[in-house]
Amino acid sequence: MKDESPDATDAFTNAKTDAGIQRMGESDLTQVVKLEEDCGLNSRGVESYRRLLSDPHAVLLVAVNAEREVIGLLSATVVVDELQIDNVAVVESWRRRGIASKLLAAGLQDAARKGARQAVLELRSANAAARALYQRHAFVVTGNRPNYYRNPPDQALIMSCQIGPSHAKHPIKNFEADPKR
Ligand SMILES: CC(C)(COP(=O)(O)OP(=O)(O)OC[C@H]1O[C@@H](n2cnc3c(N)ncnc32)[C@H](O)[C@@H]1OP(=O)(O)O)[C@@H](O)C(=O)NCCC(=O)NCCS
Repeated sequence: MKDESPDATDAFTNAKTDAGIQRMGESDLTQVVKLEEDCGLNSRGVESYRRLLSDPHAVLLVAVNAEREVIGLLSATVVVDELQIDNVAVVESWRRRGIASKLLAAGLQDAARKGARQAVLELRSANAAARALYQRHAFVVTGNRPNYYRNPPDQALIMSCQIGPSHAKHPIKNFEADPKR
C-alpha cells in the first residue's frame, strides 16, 4: 500500500519533505530574486521575471513550505524542443531534503508537456552539489566553456539530459495544487 504520511519518500523524486511545488506567481518574485542573490546566482530580476510569468514557454516553479514561504525555485525556458535551465536553488536550511529533486522532476514534466525533448544547463565546475544533483537526474556533461565565470574564476560545464515520455506522465505530489499560479 502507498505510504501517504507527510514525510513519505516519493519513488520518483526521492523526496524527503512535503514541500509543495507550485507555479511561480507575482507574489513570489521578491523572495525568488533574494534566494538567487543569496545563493550567488545571477538573477534576471523582478521586472524580467514579471514579464516571463505570462510567457507560455517559461517553466517557473517554486517550492513552498507550510507557511507558503519560497524555499526553492526553478527557472527555465523551452526554446523549440530544448529546456534551457537558468537557475535551481534551495534555501540553505532546507537542503538535502529532496526539494531540488522535486523541482527538477516537476520542471522536466512540465517541459515535456510543452514539447521539450532535452534539457540543458551550465554550472560552475566547482559546484559539486549541483553536479551531483543533475547527475542523479540523468544529466551528463556534454561540454565545457573555459574561463566562463569570474569572482571566483571557473570554467562552465554544460550538462544535458534527454526528456522522455516518462517525464510527462509522472505525478509530482502537490504540483499544480493551485492552478492560478
Ligand atoms: C544544488 C542545490 C539546488 C541542491 O538542492 P537540494 O534540495 O539540497 O538537493 P536534493 O536534496 O534534491 O539532492 C538530491 C541529490 O543531489 C545530490 N546532492 C545535493 N546536494 C549535495 C551536496 N551538497 N553534496 C553532494 N551531493 C549533493 C545528492 O545525490 C542528493 O541526494 P541525497 O541527499 O539522497 O544524497 C542546492 O545545494 C543549492 O541551492 N545550491 C546553491 C545554488 C546552486 O548552486 N544552484 C545550482 C546552479 S543552477
